[in-house]
Amino acid sequence: MIFHVLTLFPDFFSSPLKQSIIGRAIERGILKVALHNIRDYAKDKHRTVDDTPYGGGAGMVLKVEPVVDCLEAVRKKTTKERTLTILTTPQGVTLRQPLVERLSGYEELIILCGRYEGIDERIRAFVDMEVSIGDYILTGGEIAALVIIDSVGRLVPGVVGEADSLKTESFSEGLLEYPQYTRPPEFRGMKVPEVLLSGHHEQIRKWRRKESLKRTLERRPDLLERAELTEEDRKLIKELTEKG
Ligand code: ADE
Repeated sequence: MIFHVLTLFPDFFSSPLKQSIIGRAIERGILKVALHNIRDYAKDKHRTVDDTPYGGGAGMVLKVEPVVDCLEAVRKKTTKERTLTILTTPQGVTLRQPLVERLSGYEELIILCGRYEGIDERIRAFVDMEVSIGDYILTGGEIAALVIIDSVGRLVPGVVGEADSLKTESFSEGLLEYPQYTRPPEFRGMKVPEVLLSGHHEQIRKWRRKESLKRTLERRPDLLERAELTEEDRKLIKELTEKG
């Protein structure tokens, strides 16, 4: 999968994209991130990319021409049907796992990093979708672009090693993850639940499911409304709610 990032700060991406799982996937060629500096598309000798807002007011506004020129240059190299263009902005739809999954179905994503101070409104006509990573304001869209690359990239086959670790994690079934433990069996009086040391696979599976439901009920009850629940799950939820 290829991510094209249109930004004024390409250096922002150099270290994060070298690390860990995504870094390895890029090294192995499973993922590719192409950085495009919007400033390279400015026409004047000062390489101007922003200007004062019409109507007055504080701050500068990202100009439409260099952005659209950059976008069109990138699009010349992509296949229209398999590519989606995203603008990162707090005004966009909130990124959640179902959207992450949908985005992972594209062969290429073009991510235009918005700017804190503002962008010329006409830029919006050139993107397919506006995405926010949450209800808070960042100084620019670069961190949001990294969040998209990380969350979408890890769903690309081969990026995350064990297929299982994708399957049983938070949100993949709409539930929060169950508690995990590793050695030692006791730390400062805190013991690992007996069942996990028992070797009873069926009991372990049940315990984990129950803990998953319990944690979701306690921390994110809103998720339960959309989760895929079995008859056994409903029984467990009933037990958990009646207890409290
Ligand atoms: N740019 C600034 N804040 C943002 C946010 N929350 N999501 C996406 N892009 C942004």
